[in-house]
Amino acid sequence: MYGAVVAVKDLSLSVRRGEFLTILGPSGSGKTTALMLLAGFEAPSKGDILISGKSVAAVPSYRRDQGIVFQSYALFPHLTVRRNLEFPLEMRGIKVGEREKRVDRILDRVHLRELGGRMPSQLSGGQQQRVALARALIADPPILLLDEPLGALDRNLREQMQGEIKSLHKEFRKTTICVTHDQEEALTLSDRIIVMRAGRIEQTDTPEALYDQPATRFVANFLGEANILENLNCEVESDAAQPSGTVAMIRPERMCIAAQAAPKRADADRRQSVIGTVDDMVYAGPLRRYNVRMGESLLIVRQHVVSGEQIFRPGDEVRLDWLRSDIRFVAA
Ligand SMILES: Nc1ncnc2c1ncn2[C@@H]1O[C@H](COP(=O)(O)OP(=O)(O)OP(=O)(O)O)[C@@H](O)[C@H]1O
Ligand SMILES: [Mg+2]
Repeated sequence: MYGAVVAVKDLSLSVRRGEFLTILGPSGSGKTTALMLLAGFEAPSKGDILISGKSVAAVPSYRRDQGIVFQSYALFPHLTVRRNLEFPLEMRGIKVGEREKRVDRILDRVHLRELGGRMPSQLSGGQQQRVALARALIADPPILLLDEPLGALDRNLREQMQGEIKSLHKEFRKTTICVTHDQEEALTLSDRIIVMRAGRIEQTDTPEALYDQPATRFVANFLGEANILENLNCEVESDAAQPSGTVAMIRPERMCIAAQAAPKRADADRRQSVIGTVDDMVYAGPLRRYNVRMGESLLIVRQHVVSGEQIFRPGDEVRLDWLRSDIRFVAA
């Protein structure tokens, strides 16, 4: 709690040794607060935090063996990049020669070799972020806590650093808790993902299970795109019985779009097929994204761009079909 503000509530999570766990959620959902509790910068008003079975709630954060990347980077403004990186080593009593070697090695790893002599204020946001990541890693702590570690990077660099973090994790298997609002980053990096919403955990699962079997409408919409099948002009068919309090959902890439008169597919008996009207088509490189009107709903259909495909235009009547086994039920 911050004064009277309850930032996170009933949060209970466990991370396995060597696991990459991501806390994912929209802005203000309590991700940073959860991480600061784990890091020891905030004290929980209730509850406890255990590492290897021992309570650390009363251990100040500087006494814990953990590397942290803060959302605001929090570099020491009066120290050069090199001195920033040396700091955690100095704290641990590592000798100058060894410090120099480790700083060189990590600077190479984050592609900042030439910038060691600069002050943080002379770096771009992305460069500062990489220094922060390097500083968290340099003392080789068993636990890494990362708050939006790649948030300030452009797309290419972000993908490159994602690969870097992934390979570092593969190599050293550090227990990592990473906070992000970036779904793709969460899906690519994590062993498990915790989805947060308004200070509470909405669902915890592996990336694949979360995407393929979201428990709630919120998770379905937050992780990727979802078609919620309500207010259509037809009944939704499915293989499984619909639990009460749920609504049917299907992912846009599970839908197929075809001309109304196109021949039926070979597995047509396992599919539901409906007629809709194209509302809009957006070309996005390897994908085409259609909005198709059905009843009062707009359904999203994602199709891979392939040679010789038929392209539909707004106003075209089309046939949508999907496998009944691809229908999911999510809590409404
Ligand atoms: N120092 C504070 N005092 C009062 N309220 C705060 C404080 N810090 C955070 N909050 C509130 O607690 C809630 C959770 O904030 P938190 O920073 O954990 O969110 P977040 O999920 O990290 O968001 P973002 O993605 O924007 O970083 C928000 O409603 C926020 O306004
Ligand atoms: Mg935050």
